[in-house]
Amino acid sequence: MGWLEHRMVVISNRLPITIEETKEGPALEASSGGLVTALRPLLNDCEGVWVGWTGTDASPAVEALLEEHSRKSNFVLKPVFMCPEERSRFYIGFSNEILWPLFHDLQSRCNFDPTYWDTYLTVNRRFADAAAIETHSDDVVWVHDYHLMSVGASLRQLGVNERLTYFHHIPFPSPDIFEKLPWRTEILKALLDFDVLGFQTLRDRRNFVACLRKFVKHAEAREYGEHLIVDSPRRTTFVGAFPIGIDYEEFAHGASDHEVAARADEIVNSLNGCRVILGVDRLDYTKGIPERLAAYRHLLEFHPERRQRVVLIEVVVPSREDIPKYLELKTQIERQVSEINGQYGEPGWVPIHYIHRSLDRPELLAYYSAAHIALVTPLKDGMNLVAKEYCAARVHDDGVLILSEFAGSAFQLNRGALLVNPYDTRAVAEAIETACDMPPAEQRTRIRKLKARIRHENIFHWRDSFWGCGELIAQTS
Ligand code: ADP
Ligand code: F6P
Repeated sequence: MGWLEHRMVVISNRLPITIEETKEGPALEASSGGLVTALRPLLNDCEGVWVGWTGTDASPAVEALLEEHSRKSNFVLKPVFMCPEERSRFYIGFSNEILWPLFHDLQSRCNFDPTYWDTYLTVNRRFADAAAIETHSDDVVWVHDYHLMSVGASLRQLGVNERLTYFHHIPFPSPDIFEKLPWRTEILKALLDFDVLGFQTLRDRRNFVACLRKFVKHAEAREYGEHLIVDSPRRTTFVGAFPIGIDYEEFAHGASDHEVAARADEIVNSLNGCRVILGVDRLDYTKGIPERLAAYRHLLEFHPERRQRVVLIEVVVPSREDIPKYLELKTQIERQVSEINGQYGEPGWVPIHYIHRSLDRPELLAYYSAAHIALVTPLKDGMNLVAKEYCAARVHDDGVLILSEFAGSAFQLNRGALLVNPYDTRAVAEAIETACDMPPAEQRTRIRKLKARIRHENIFHWRDSFWGCGELIAQTS
């Protein structure tokens, strides 16, 4: 029986919907971030349960909203709740003050508070408890992302032993960085409690194996076709690199809608013929937004002929707003935007249009369609789906993708994108110059290469290759 025929139990920190407290009471909103964008199209194809946090405290109104949502879908949403102290130590603390910066190579931003670890384990056990109740012996259990690396170990303690899999959406750091984590061995051993481990890129898989060699005794990695098998005293774990994709057809089809095209025209026409450079990001310090703005400032300063001929539209979706570092970043970005606009703006020309809110899909597609250039310059990123979404939305095979060489997607998109080092503001400014002057024929050749790769290695391909790896378990046991 192929894994596609099994029921799926998805476990992630956030459910695909988040509950917001409004004046009228709790209301459902789509959760932001690449994990949800990627997984959502897979839900239509199969039945299952999704276990995760709603972003709110428990209440009968919240439970009722979830039940109502679940009734309308093949996928039942099962909430996990945390008390304020757990939220602060597990989510804000261990997940976002330690793992997130460390795994993005930003160790100086880490706060290795020793009280966080116990809460990380407690909350991971809570997710496992909730999932164990929902899991039948035939199910595939699919845990997602760094918040929940110890859920496999907890599930085994609860007697759930079959088809335990984990996908790591963010980068996995090299041993030199990972070794700073006081709980490095415990985390690695917990990961080895899964049957299948998926990473975004070969670089992440290589780093993981290098960390195992350095910090875990008696764990041996060997090649098995295109994957690796790690033998450890308790079990055998399959380890692979599976670059996550998008639902290409959904983006391409959506972008060809005539209302989207009309809205894109409206955006372009409102900008007096300027070339549109677009940034779209969750508001996160890993996305390199201040560095990008500095590069744009460099362009305006040293290429004055571009003034009044280009505009940067920077769309940021609010994220993790109760974490002080994120609020500081927002203030920094807004100051930079207003300084650049103040310094270079003229009547009839605003150099940067700054949008700080979540856009619905048609509006997002209209911006992708309107943009001559996408500027995707994270300092480090597990994958970065925005780069893929932009290309998929280019229905006329024009446009230029400028992409950070430190995004996971650069491994797949290096042949069509202009790759840049996001810390090198001059080089990014020069890449914008090159993009502005790129002849249509070269744009077409590049974007077609990008689209072909993104179309082929789409989200369904990702699922099938990950599960195909899982199916190898039966062959080797
Ligand atoms: P991450 O997972 O770190 O957030 P990704 O680039 O992989 O980064 O995914 C971000 C997702 O969020 C994409 O699917 C993108 O379309 C979506 N997104 C980003 N900004 C906005 C916005 N302002 N409005 C709506 N969606 C957004
Ligand atoms: O992989 C990126 C990611 O951390 C996802 O796990 C998460 O859903 C998304 O970013 C948004 O972050 P948060 O859930 O902390 O709002």
